[in-house]
Amino acid sequence: MKKVKISVLALSMLFGAGLLTSCGGSEEQKETATEITTEEVAAEVPAAKDGAEFYKTSGCVACHQVDKKLVGPSIIDIAAAYADEATLTAFLKGESAAIVDPAQAALMTPQVEITKKMSAEDLQVIVSYIMGHKK
Ligand code: HEC
Repeated sequence: MKKVKISVLALSMLFGAGLLTSCGGSEEQKETATEITTEEVAAEVPAAKDGAEFYKTSGCVACHQVDKKLVGPSIIDIAAAYADEATLTAFLKGESAAIVDPAQAALMTPQVEITKKMSAEDLQVIVSYIMGHKK
C-alpha cells in the first residue's frame, strides 16, 4: 500500500517536473499539467492489497498469530525458517514439503490447496506479509 503510494508520488513528480521544464507555461497551467499526470499514473497502478488485511481474510490468522504458536507456528517462526520469498512461495504452491513443523503438516496441507489456487499477485501479498516479519 505504502510502496504504491510512494511510487505514484515519485512518478507524478518526475512527470510533473518533465512537463514543467518542457512547456514552461504560467503557474496555473503548470498545476493543471501535474494534476492530470498524477491521475493518469494512478489509474495505471492497481490498488495494492493490504498484506495484514488480506492475510486475515484468507483465514490464515485462525491458526497463525504473529508472535506466538497457536495451532500453527507463528509468522515470525515461519519467516525465520524460510531463506527467501521464492522458497516460501514454492511451499504455498505445493511444490515443496513443510520445514517448520512437518509433524503437524496434515493441518496445513488443506490450506496449501487454497493458497496454490491463488493468483500470483495474491500469493505475493501473503508471502511479502509473512517475510516482512523476518528479523
Ligand atoms: C487449520 C489451521 C491452519 C490454517 C487455517 C493455516 N495454517 Fe498454516 N500451518 C498450520 C500448521 C499446523 C502448520 C505446521 C505444519 C507445517 O509446518 O506445515 C502450518 C504451517 C504453515 C507454514 C510453514 C510451512 C512449513 O514449511 O513448515 C506456512 C508458510 C503457513 N502455514 C502458511 C499459512 C497461510 C498463508 C495460511 C492462510 C492461507 C495458513 N497457513 C493457514 C495450520 C494452519
